[in-house]
Amino acid sequence: MSDRVRLAVLPTPVLSAERLHAVLGGDPIWVKRDDLTGFGVAGNKARPLEFLLGDAVRRSRDLLVTGGGPDSNFVAAAALAARVTGLGCDVVTTVADGTPDGANLQLARAAGARLHRVAERREQIDSVVAELAADRTAQGYRPVAVPRGGSTPIGAVGFARAAHELADQVAGGLLPEPAVIAIAVGSGGSAAGLLAGLAATGLRSRLLGLSVSRPPAEADAVVRRLATGCAAVLGAPAPDPDRWEIRDARGPGFGVAGPTDRAAAVLALRTEGLLLDDTYGAKAFAGTVRRARTGGTGPVLYWHTGGLPSAVAHLGDTADAADPPDLGGDLP
Ligand SMILES: Cc1ncc(COP(=O)(O)O)c(C=O)c1O
Repeated sequence: MSDRVRLAVLPTPVLSAERLHAVLGGDPIWVKRDDLTGFGVAGNKARPLEFLLGDAVRRSRDLLVTGGGPDSNFVAAAALAARVTGLGCDVVTTVADGTPDGANLQLARAAGARLHRVAERREQIDSVVAELAADRTAQGYRPVAVPRGGSTPIGAVGFARAAHELADQVAGGLLPEPAVIAIAVGSGGSAAGLLAGLAATGLRSRLLGLSVSRPPAEADAVVRRLATGCAAVLGAPAPDPDRWEIRDARGPGFGVAGPTDRAAAVLALRTEGLLLDDTYGAKAFAGTVRRARTGGTGPVLYWHTGGLPSAVAHLGDTADAADPPDLGGDLP
């Protein structure tokens, strides 16, 4: 049993993307609307934070120390979650490059977080978070240090619960059992939690991870390690690695969507009104479309993870996109 604070409005809805299917053909696509978790603009990150903060409160912590890149959705959500549960918050981010703060850093500051622009590169952030937490302990605080993305075995419990939430929606007739569940993989906690949770549901769905920031082999190892840790936290059956596969969805680089990713995002916007960001959503959705268009496996569920601040900020980039969007030879 894990401690939890309530942040999200759950269950999130499921959507049958029929207009999208009419354009694409292939297998039917469903969407799990974790862009609508209802806590700030946290998207998928509301789920791990319920358990990270639950654990911090149970252990009488008074300060959340975490970090992320300047566009991190997790940082904004973590600062807000700390605030509403009565903890202070320190956020480590990369040194300012002269561009104005985006919506996520502004939200973190509005929630009262102290920003430390000290890391040279995103990869350094977790070690700086650990050092800062040690400094805060020496100053008399009772901090909890949380790595980028909130991807720890405890954080992953949020997505293990989401697997049960989905199983309940399938049992209730809200959607057919997905043959494939497709989700973006960044720091890996969301996919890991799903993998751990699926093992304890009756669902036979396969999980398809679309790695947006790490080489697939590296992301694969991270997800497996976190899923095993998450199952141990829950006392749940070990995750079944055979129901999981990972694909490379990095495209031109972190945060930069390729032409096919963009076209897939424009199609989602113009058929179903879905907003997808370049870093996670567009890439993961293009991978989902690729799988559904290949066809023949059954319903494909795209797990929409949010990313609304960045999606809204970059809408202008696609205003002149071809109509219908050109999915290119890159997709079947
Ligand atoms: C919008 C969005 N989607 C997907 C992800 C990836 O989730 P995870 O880091 O759990 O792999 C993130 C991570 O921050 C995110 O902000």
